[in-house]
Amino acid sequence: MRTVYLDNAATSYPKPPRVYERLRGYLEEFGGCPGRGSYELARQAESLVEDTRQCLAELFHASDPRRIVFTLNATDALNLAIKGTLRAGDHVVTTVLEHNSVARPLNRLERQGLIRVTRVGASPEGLIDPADIRGALTGRTRLVAVLHGSNVLGSLQPIGSIGRIVREWGALFLVDASQTAGAVPIDVEASQIDLLAFPGHKALLGLPGTGGLYVGPRAALSPWREGGTGVFSELPLQPDQLPYALEAGSPNVLGLAGLRESVRFILQYGVDWIRAHELSLAARLLDGLRGDERFTLYGPASLEGRVAVLSLTVAGRSPAQVAEQLNDRHRIAVRAGLHCAPGAHRLIGTFPDGTVRISPGYFTTEQEIELCLEALKEAASPAPHAASVHA
Ligand code: ALA
Repeated sequence: MRTVYLDNAATSYPKPPRVYERLRGYLEEFGGCPGRGSYELARQAESLVEDTRQCLAELFHASDPRRIVFTLNATDALNLAIKGTLRAGDHVVTTVLEHNSVARPLNRLERQGLIRVTRVGASPEGLIDPADIRGALTGRTRLVAVLHGSNVLGSLQPIGSIGRIVREWGALFLVDASQTAGAVPIDVEASQIDLLAFPGHKALLGLPGTGGLYVGPRAALSPWREGGTGVFSELPLQPDQLPYALEAGSPNVLGLAGLRESVRFILQYGVDWIRAHELSLAARLLDGLRGDERFTLYGPASLEGRVAVLSLTVAGRSPAQVAEQLNDRHRIAVRAGLHCAPGAHRLIGTFPDGTVRISPGYFTTEQEIELCLEALKEAASPAPHAASVHA
């Protein structure tokens, strides 16, 4: 039995077939170290890396590809953005919805007494009101960090409106695009984003171990890693020029070969088309469960305010039990628990057990959604005696 994979919010699977072909081609034909030699193999590797930057700049509407810096994943990019930007005495505005990859670095700096943090709340559906961001800004606010799409609730934040407010105030705007890069159109210039952190292995359909940070012209980050760049080797310190200022060491060229191919795939089909497909699957899930009182559904009611991530609880069953049953009986892969975002679960009252999260992706079929609906209804039967509803 083939796995019905519905955990694309954690990592996308499968990848476009052309990604697998490219990886094989890379291993057989390339193999040089980019920027570290003038021979053919090194030059080919260099142009592959630069072309990947170019594709990502096109996807995010960044006019200068050198402002795309490669990282290990979105967590790495967020740590670079946060720790590279903040100085003692700074104030940060963020939200209660953030993933631990934003919450934990900020919590640590706050506990060390270096920064102050204001966490703005969200509506019960998981939507941030830009007015709350405005109300939290102070004269010491250097950074506003906001999750674009919640990995728990699927709620999509109005980053254009927030970006305008942050820019007018003169602070920096960091967007965590972990659930949206490749799944929702993003224009860093139109949305006045200074720092955009993204993973390569989720909706960008690339490999784990890839990700990046867009660094806008207003952001001046201190280096996160220092070391070899292959250029400016005579300098005693990390060069100031991007991307070298924030990239050191041999890059993950294999991963970037896959990412270039997957981003080309996305550019070819178009993010709007991909989004429409994923939202139609989410709509079917929502329609299939709404009105059945055994299920509590979380997140925005409207599809426009969402990504294709749906959290639910089943009366009388723990999220872990439901996920286990789906896996054991039907080989359906969904993620239960807190999803590394405890604040979002506190907001909706599902802390500490969490929810069952279902996240279709580009390759999910309608038939797989139907199987999942049937399996969920089976997991919810018979109707429980004592329903525990968490909303
Ligand atoms: N942050 C990823 C998730 O939400 C891994 O599952």
